[in-house]
Amino acid sequence: MERKLKDGRVVELREVKVTDATLLLQYFERVNLESKFLIREPGEFTFTVNDERKFIRRAIKSKNEHVAVAFLDDELIGSIGFRSGHLRRITHRASLGMSVLKKYNNLGLGSIMMEYIIKTTENMGKLKMELEVRAENINAIHLYKKFGFDIEGTIKKGFFVDNEYVDLLIMGKWL
Ligand SMILES: CC(C)(COP(=O)(O)OP(=O)(O)OC[C@H]1O[C@@H](n2cnc3c(N)ncnc32)[C@H](O)[C@@H]1OP(=O)(O)O)[C@@H](O)C(=O)NCCC(=O)NCCS
Repeated sequence: MERKLKDGRVVELREVKVTDATLLLQYFERVNLESKFLIREPGEFTFTVNDERKFIRRAIKSKNEHVAVAFLDDELIGSIGFRSGHLRRITHRASLGMSVLKKYNNLGLGSIMMEYIIKTTENMGKLKMELEVRAENINAIHLYKKFGFDIEGTIKKGFFVDNEYVDLLIMGKWL
């Protein structure tokens, strides 16, 4: 689907395809360099293109996973996805992850992708969305609250970043 950013440019947001593997790897390497709010340090994303293709194939087939990518012309500029367990006691819970390239932050792409993933997660039969976010990640927390996520708890000293332990918030939204 096509959506407009706040500056009028049009992005295409769609489910990931196997042919996105190389671009997606380059994208993850870049966002991991740009942001200390994500779980991986630069260089910790060690998938080969073949691994990435397998990961995408599995995600496309799975009832418990969905990955979407946002393109501005030919540039992959954002990604969002969820994953949930298959066990009956927990399969209603979808764990969310998202990112946008730094130079495209605050243009509304995060919100566009969030709207999409909420609908998709709901359509795939999940009942709850959950995520963990660094307590200092003001923009992300603002975005999550805007879409109805509540703070459910704190994982104290959940990340080790720049030689210190920092807290993570657990946020959730009942669909
Ligand atoms: C979090 C992230 C995905 C948001 O993407 P985005 O495209 O910038 O999102 P949007 O533009 O839709 O929304 C950003 C919001 O933050 C708000 N914001 C910006 N600076 C802010 C500040 N200092 N205080 C509070 N809110 C702020 C913006 O106003 C906007 O809200 P609005 O839509 O109500 O105006 C993006 O910043 C990102 O990829 N960060 C690095 C990776 C990351 O943190 N991922 C999430 C891990 S849990």
